[in-house]
Amino acid sequence: MTDPSRQQLICLIGYRGTGKTSTARLLATRLGWQWRDADVELEAFSGKSIRRIFAEEGETAFRDLEEQLLRRLCEASHCVLATGGGVVLREANREQLRRAGLVVWLKADPGTLWDRLRQDASTEERRPALTRGGLAEIEELTRVREPLYRACAHLAIDTSERSPEEVAATIQQYWHGHA
Ligand code: S3P
Repeated sequence: MTDPSRQQLICLIGYRGTGKTSTARLLATRLGWQWRDADVELEAFSGKSIRRIFAEEGETAFRDLEEQLLRRLCEASHCVLATGGGVVLREANREQLRRAGLVVWLKADPGTLWDRLRQDASTEERRPALTRGGLAEIEELTRVREPLYRACAHLAIDTSERSPEEVAATIQQYWHGHA
């Protein structure tokens, strides 16, 4: 296993709605670090919403941009990085993340994810349908992606019954125990 304490970087991976962004913000505050959201950085860089990139250029163009930006974001230190849910699809990204820092996989059951995504105002612009949409898409893609998240992560946390504050506290504890 890569030594997760080599760089002061914690990367949060996991499906849409697992709480990566909220947890990144709270964890960064606890550690006195900065935090970044890869989707926000990507939209700022391209000047377009993710929905528009998918519609006008297609998913492959989005994934190319995601890979390119990930390399840059992984150079940060004293930083918590919330990644996009599909970042693990590319092997290059999985390797990049594991090399760069501690990788934490946030997961939750599909019903919980579906409820959270419907309530999140950013879903409309940031989360275009990837297959058929809805709960069926979440069930299908969490199943397909699970081995990829697992292969990439140093630590996994089920967030179904935990608040982002509790998740951030758990990661902080782990970090201090392993750094
Ligand atoms: C995606 C997840 C989104 C965003 C894009 C693609 C995915 O990020 O990167 O819509 O493939 O699961 P969040 O996980 O932050 O919603």
